Amino acid sequence: MAKKKSSIPVYTVVYTVSTLLLIGMLLLEVYGAVVPPRFEGASSEEDRGNPLAFPAVLEDSDPDPEKAFFELDVQYGEMEFFPGVVTDTLGYNGDYLGPVLHVREGQEVQIQVNNHLTSPTTTHWHGLDVDGDNDGGPHQGIMPGESWTANFTVDQPAATIWYHPHFHHLTGDQVYQGMAGLIYIEDEQSDDLNIPNTYGENDIPVVIQDRNFRRDGSFHYNLANIGLVTGDTLLVNGTVDPYLEVNRELVRLRLLNGSNFENYELTFSDGREFYFIASDGGFLEAPVEMDSLFLTPGERAEILVDLSEVTDDYLALVDGRDVILDFYLTGDTTFAAEIPSTLVTVPDIPVGDNPTTRTFVLESEGLHGTINGKEFDMDRIDKVVPKGETELWVIRTAEGSRPRPGHPFHVHGAQFQIVSRDGNPPPPEEAGFKDTVFVANGEEVIIKVVFHKEGLFMYHCHMLEHEEHGMMGQFRVE
Ligand code: C2O
Ligand code: CU
Ligand code: CU
Repeated sequence: MAKKKSSIPVYTVVYTVSTLLLIGMLLLEVYGAVVPPRFEGASSEEDRGNPLAFPAVLEDSDPDPEKAFFELDVQYGEMEFFPGVVTDTLGYNGDYLGPVLHVREGQEVQIQVNNHLTSPTTTHWHGLDVDGDNDGGPHQGIMPGESWTANFTVDQPAATIWYHPHFHHLTGDQVYQGMAGLIYIEDEQSDDLNIPNTYGENDIPVVIQDRNFRRDGSFHYNLANIGLVTGDTLLVNGTVDPYLEVNRELVRLRLLNGSNFENYELTFSDGREFYFIASDGGFLEAPVEMDSLFLTPGERAEILVDLSEVTDDYLALVDGRDVILDFYLTGDTTFAAEIPSTLVTVPDIPVGDNPTTRTFVLESEGLHGTINGKEFDMDRIDKVVPKGETELWVIRTAEGSRPRPGHPFHVHGAQFQIVSRDGNPPPPEEAGFKDTVFVANGEEVIIKVVFHKEGLFMYHCHMLEHEEHGMMGQFRVE
């Protein structure tokens, strides 16, 4: 597959320029948007786009290896996503997105978040098994000029989790402007795995987001568009039209669907197979060979792709016809590894004889939504869940007026396991720990979940606009 930018023949552009102008004007009328800026500056076959940015790794400032201390500054920023055009952004310790935090199982962690914005925010650790007070959900607001410190002991296996704001009615907008970051949890099992782990070289964070830009470069967070049209520009780690030079070797991608609303169906441009090794909550028991991967908002997936035998110089990670990330193959192997036949032992969440069963019906009407017929109310506790008892949660979707293909159901405070999808066992890539599960329209997904920490937590659709427009509930673990 050719690169998207260079796949538009010049004559087509010339002969359809008036059509494009017309469409542009129509778009301007309808959406206040412009012709997608991704086509600007597409010059020659040699133009590779922009080198993929890597989030900085934030240093742990606690010298005690048993402890970690991090400081996150929530701040305004400016980015040049397009040359010469400045976009106002939000970020943690930088202009866009946030640094990667490395923590270890068993470590005592403190993260101080300083809010330098003029609006409130929260910092939620998505996928972290933590008590309600340190979860960073809508109830842990950090007012302008204030700080909040989360304290927790890492109590879960190695995984790629993430953080983002969760202040009710500001979540979607703040994430859209750039607030999101990754946390890598490591443990003894992950130390022992012979898989790529050199950050930025063969262990690559891939934060996928779609955005709309106005002609002046500003983000166009337009609720009227969301759910109807995909953003005109795809970003990976905040890079427009990104490319990455890699060696011909085994490469690990840590994928996060960090988009507000869009699902992705990821494949490689040559159709090659890859190996799914970790889901939201950590490694699977064994790699799963596949050639296509569905990723819904909030979900993570770690994959290994073997590039050692690729003769071509070019390969891309794509979503249908959209290029997500270009790879240019340069040097040869520096890392001698094979796809491991086994990874870790994943303990099965035990279920008692008569587990409490709860049903959650997700229904959307455009951007609005309900769970079990109710819109989110911050003053209402929807469920009280006993600590330490495994429950079965049955998640269904109901047809709304403008139905989506389905909803990503996310639960705070635990990693769950999928029992069944429409009565069948989950596919192998969904057999590990999860915190977000896509429930297609008309489907019934049953999960088993047990909470080990007390406090107030959220469950919601991770399409952030659904979450903010009613499709969320809260439960107290006690
Ligand atoms: Cu990713 Cu309630 O969060
Ligand atoms: Cu979460
Ligand atoms: Cu939804």
